[in-house]
Amino acid sequence: MIVEDTIHVSVREGYDVIIGKDLLVNTGKYLSAMFQERKAFVITDSNVKDHYLNTVLESLKDSGIDARFFVFPAGEGNKNLSTYESILNMLSENHCTRSDYILALGGGVCGDMAGFAAGTYMRGIPFVQIPTTVLAMVDSSVGGKCAVDLCQGKNLVGVFHQPSLVLCDTNTLSTLPQKYFKDGMAEVVKTGILCGGELFDLCCNFDIENLPKIISMCVEYKAGVVERDETEQGERKLLNLGHTAAHAIERCSQYTVPHGHAVAIGTSIIARASDRLGFSSTPISDDILSVLSSFGLPTSTEYSPEELLLASRMDKKSQGNEISVIIPEKIGHCVIRSIDFDVLSTIYEAGIS
Ligand code: NAD
Ligand code: GLY
Repeated sequence: MIVEDTIHVSVREGYDVIIGKDLLVNTGKYLSAMFQERKAFVITDSNVKDHYLNTVLESLKDSGIDARFFVFPAGEGNKNLSTYESILNMLSENHCTRSDYILALGGGVCGDMAGFAAGTYMRGIPFVQIPTTVLAMVDSSVGGKCAVDLCQGKNLVGVFHQPSLVLCDTNTLSTLPQKYFKDGMAEVVKTGILCGGELFDLCCNFDIENLPKIISMCVEYKAGVVERDETEQGERKLLNLGHTAAHAIERCSQYTVPHGHAVAIGTSIIARASDRLGFSSTPISDDILSVLSSFGLPTSTEYSPEELLLASRMDKKSQGNEISVIIPEKIGHCVIRSIDFDVLSTIYEAGIS
């Protein structure tokens, strides 16, 4: 086992994010040190199960941990109340109590949904994130946002529930399909635009050897934001850069456009609009579109500004006739603006292509 970095997230009940290789085979050792004499409930999806479930179950067994598991069909379309209810039923049928815990083994879909189950079952039991996608390692496994989608919109039912530990085993990325690797890079580029400097440069001159360092830098940045604003009263809204249009695109596509692809398009729309409407202090859209394209990510959408606007009305970032949007003014400096839907319409018109 090689531990490359450990980042502590100092929220009320702080936790470590451990980044390294061969962590999965040591899952049991980490957990037996944290939770004595307690049952583990592993939640995973139908793809991740084939690759990693046995490794985790073996490791738990070797450490004397009593474990059960639940597998749901992979995909954002299953991040819904029906799968969530099946998870709750499995927990109660197996006599899961408040002294037991959940392990979320998979990408952001698994982590968000298993975390939501952990945050609500018996008013909250502990959970551990074992992210297996780039997106989940750099973003969704850290910070405690847990939710499921409604057909009316993304992540509309959820809680803040922080994990007790995050284990990022970068070996798992060897089986991740290219399409989902790109998705994660969209969130990496988003973070690079927010913090600028070395991280944005590492995106522009990408070398796969730097991936563990990139994951660490993203987690470090996100941990700082979450520590200062755990429940998104202010600064944490910055992490939604590109997400207003992204969530609208996901909804218009009935969740067939993957989240990271939608974030790439949403970030491109707001970058173009920022240049064209004079929000940016220096032109930024060429650099942003160029780095997103270098990862093979899309920068435009087939949906019209009117369709996006309609979908954005159900966004949980909206309050009355206003919605918060993150404006990139330059690489390394973005601002939060509360705007009304007429201005959002102007932004979509200006940035769509
Ligand atoms: P995902 O969980 O659907 O995983 C993508 C695909 O890769 C799935 O088919 C999955 O089965 C497969 N997969 C996962 N790991 C694999 C591996 N190692 N090898 C082979 N296949 C593997 O999608 P995602 O991109 O990880 O996450 C997207 C979700 O994350 C969205 O629902 C989004 O809303 C959410 N999200 C949440 C936060 C947050 O803060 N909570 C932040 C960003 C995104
Ligand atoms: N991914 C946005 C957040 O965690 O706040």
